[in-house]
This record gives sequence, C-alpha cells and structure tokens, in this order.
Amino acid sequence: MRRGSGNFLFLAASTFFTLLILPLSAQTGPVDAAGHQWWQNAVFYEIYPRSFADSNNDGIGELNGIASKLAYLEKLGVDAIWITPCYPSPQVDFGYDVSDYENIDPMYGTLQDFDRLEKEAKQKSIRIIMDFVMNHTSDQHPWFLDSRASRTSAHRNWYIWRDGKNGGPPNNWISIFGGSAWKFDPTTDQYYYHYFYPQQPDLNWRNPAVKTAMFDVTRWWYQRGVAGFRLDAVDTLFEDPDLHDNPVLPGKNKYGDPRETDKYNTNLPEVHDVLRDLRKVADQSDAVLIGETWTDNINELKAYYGPHHDELQLPMDFMFAMVNKISAPAFRRQIALAESSGGWPTYVISNHDIERSYDRYGDGQHDDAIAKLMAGLYLTLRGTPIMYYGEELGMENNDPKRKEDVKDPIGKLGWPKDKGRDGERTPMQWSSGPNGGFTTGKPWLPVPPSTATHNVATESKDPNSILEFYEHVLKLRHTNQALLDGDYVALNQDDPNVLSYLRRYKDQAVLVVLNMSGSERKASFDLTAQGFPSAKIGTLLSTDPSQQASLHDMTLQPFGVYIEEVSK
Ligand code: GLC
Repeated sequence: MRRGSGNFLFLAASTFFTLLILPLSAQTGPVDAAGHQWWQNAVFYEIYPRSFADSNNDGIGELNGIASKLAYLEKLGVDAIWITPCYPSPQVDFGYDVSDYENIDPMYGTLQDFDRLEKEAKQKSIRIIMDFVMNHTSDQHPWFLDSRASRTSAHRNWYIWRDGKNGGPPNNWISIFGGSAWKFDPTTDQYYYHYFYPQQPDLNWRNPAVKTAMFDVTRWWYQRGVAGFRLDAVDTLFEDPDLHDNPVLPGKNKYGDPRETDKYNTNLPEVHDVLRDLRKVADQSDAVLIGETWTDNINELKAYYGPHHDELQLPMDFMFAMVNKISAPAFRRQIALAESSGGWPTYVISNHDIERSYDRYGDGQHDDAIAKLMAGLYLTLRGTPIMYYGEELGMENNDPKRKEDVKDPIGKLGWPKDKGRDGERTPMQWSSGPNGGFTTGKPWLPVPPSTATHNVATESKDPNSILEFYEHVLKLRHTNQALLDGDYVALNQDDPNVLSYLRRYKDQAVLVVLNMSGSERKASFDLTAQGFPSAKIGTLLSTDPSQQASLHDMTLQPFGVYIEEVSK
C-alpha cells in the first residue's frame, strides 16, 4: 500500500521569473543570455513507442499514438522526445535490430506518419530525437544478407568475420546477452561477431564504407527534420583487430557464462574519432548527439565530450543513475564529479533498460514522496535531464510473474535471476480504465495494479500528485533563470541526510533543499560566502505547505523538497 506524501505548494511566482523565449527551429548559436544552446535548456523525454499510446488498438503503440499525445507532453513541459527505434525490424530486440535505417516499421506507421508527427511536434516546439543503432544491424538487414552470402560479396567486410580457432569460436568474447559473441555461419564457414543477440551482427566500423553509409543515415533524418540522435551502445563500436582474449574473472554471470572484463571489445579509443566526425555532420544541422555512455569513472565520461567539446553534447551520466539508494552523500559526490567533468551534465534516473526509478529508490513506505524528491533533484540540477515516459506518474516496474509471459529474450534466458526488461517497458498509464487506457485491445505487456491510482487522468485532478509536481518543477526550470543558467554550488556538505545546493546566476539564486531521509530533519543556511549575506527566501515550490520559508532552522519533512528563491 502506497502512502501519499503530503501536500506541496506551488507559488505562482511568474513575476519573479525571467522568461526566455525559446526558438522554434534549430539555431546555430547560443539561445540565451548565458550563451546556452537549445539542448541545454531543453527537457528531453524518452518514449518507448510500443508502449506509449495505441491509436489503432492493436495492443502496440505507434507514431500516430505519440502524435495524439503531444498536447500532454507540451503541458508537462517536454521540449524534445527521444523515440526508441521505430525502424523496420524483426523485433528480436524490440527494434534495436534494425533492418532498414531509412523507414518506419509498419507496426509503428509510415514515413508520412513520421512527417506529420514531426510537423505537429514542431508546432508545439517539441523536437524529435531518433535512436541511432550504430553498433549493429539486424541479421535481416540487406547489408548483412549480402555479407553472409559469400566471402567475396560486396558487403562482406561490413561486418566482422573470422575463422574459428581449435574447433571453436575465434576467441573467448562473451555476448552481453548470453553465450559466445561469435556465431558460426555454415554458408561461408566463418564466424561473425555480435556483442548483443546473434540476430544483431556488429558492423565493422574500421571499414570506411560503413562509416559513410551510417553517416548518410543521419543526414537523411536531419533533412526530414530530426533534431538529433541518441547513440545506442557507443562504447561497443570497436573491437581489438587482433582479437586478444578478454581477461576472465572468477565465477559465472547471470546467464551462466564465465565472467569477463570487456577489455578488448568495449571502450576502444577509436570510438572517439567516429564521434568527432559524426559531430561535424550534426553541427551542420545544429543537431544534438546524446550518448548511451556507460562509464566506470568520470574520466571516461569526460572523454565522451571530446577534448575540445567536439564529440557528444550530452553523454548520459549513468554513474548518477546507478546511485541506487537515496543518500545525500552519494548524490553529492556524484554531482560534484559530474560538475568537475567540465562538460554539460546529462542526468537520467530511468530508461527502458533499467528498473524504474520508482522501484529503485522507493522504500515501500514513502514511494510517492521519494518520486517527487528525485524529480526535485535531477530536474533542478545544472544540466539537461532526460525523463523516461511514465516516470512523471510514479509508474512502477511490472515484472513478468511467469517465465512463459516474458517477452524480452534475456528475461527468458536469465529467468528467474534476470526477468528481462519487460517490467520497465509496460504501457503508459493514461487512465484508471482497462489497460490503463492504453488500448482497448490486448496490450503487448500488462499494466500493474497501481495503474488504478497512478495514471494521467487521476493525477491531473490531484494537486498533490507526482504528475502535478513534475509539471510544477518543469515550469520552474523553464522560467527561472537561476535554474536554467545558474552555477551549482553545494551547501552544508557535511550533512549526512539533507542534500542542498544553490543554483546561482549573477545576483539571483535558487536554493534547493532535499531531505534524503525518512525522518524529520533540520537545516539552516548561511549564504554569506555565496554572496548573499543578508539573504531572504521565498518558496517557489515545496512538498510541505506548513513550512514557513526561513534560512534558519528549517524543519524538513521526511523526503521533503523545498525550492526557494533567494533574494539579497
Ligand atoms: C542498448 C539499448 C538496449 C538494446 C541494446 C542493443 O543498450 O538501450 O535496449 O538492447 O543497446 O541494441
């Protein structure tokens, strides 16, 4: 049983705000007084098209469904949607196995539907970001069909083919989705390499023809009006050409394979050359490149920005997303690291591959309050946030209950240790009606029981809902200059429970105070060192209407959020 989190208060403080008018179309220069680009001021929102909105009631969402919900996204405060792959695909990996990069899968609609969506989104100042699956294609892509046909075919060298060794695969590399990363193909008596499923052969990025063809794909979509790409699995583009075996660690992984470090088949330095060149193409269209950049440390993340900020504008910081427990010191540390990178931080708290933030952070007692706390955190930090559909409702993971219900192949393989990714990909909860109002047909995945309370229709009517809180934070983010452009200044850094910081822009500032504990806490602030010796505060948004805004002796509710305007 979930418990509500008390009230929150939103003060219509638009008189305090400096309004920034964002342009409708792509620009080549800075768009605001602080010199920021459109993608620095934008809030991005990830849509898993199968699950967002089903306009033809076949149980699977599509582009027309997304188009029908643009007004919702606009009201929420979304500036750009990233649509996960909707290209023609055999759907082995639900679209991440692309068989044609320049078309739309019939299950999602047509190119005309895409053009209409793009046009209607533009009218609402919502940009479209496509997913670019760079590392591999589907095994049904014409390039691969040709490649596997003979050792001398035109596309042979577009993929990675090798002879076996000692009667087995060329080396010990393991696929992240289970088993050897090499598949024997009897037609030509060689193995091909696949970091993901065998139906996802890796492209050979050392072949210039691959680079040209793939870069042309991005140009083709830019001409169609897309504003950028989310680059799938960038760290896996290159492999050691000498095929050194990876170091083996003790034990087995969740699929029963030997544990290895991916020393020779991920994170090779060559990836940065590709990203630099891809950025040059993007810059011609003022487009943004967002990276699915899994990194182990801040230097790896830093490298993705490029030495001259000439690679990815928005490499996602998964180290922040992987702070799995609500903890003021842990988040403080991670934010400080992101700030130290010298790049523009890119924060996410959930996506289609990781358990929903509602479950990962929830304590089973204050789940709704914690969902608001997380919004109060990552939507007020300096940087660009990328939301995941349904996060704004407090959608929870709905993992399959039985193996035979699992759709994601890794869930079948890893059952029951790894139930796959179906749980975080369930249909958007539009109403409390059947299937959360997503479809009148049979949804491809079931919605959880909490749909009864956590859905758009119900939450829009409740001023204390998670959805309303998101809307308010996003409105503040778009209108308050300190939140858009201000520095991040950590405060009270020794506090083990309360995370607090200033967003400071010239002589304006916003104070964010987040109680990251399940108990009432106290906090007080002296902002002299930050240039506000006799500061006063006024509440912009808070989860606690009883709190009188004061810098001294604030009493903070469990998991309470306090966003205060600071004046001199
Ligand atoms: C990325 C995607 C994931 C997919 C994989 C292979 O990690 O986010 O969903 O399975 O790449 O394309």
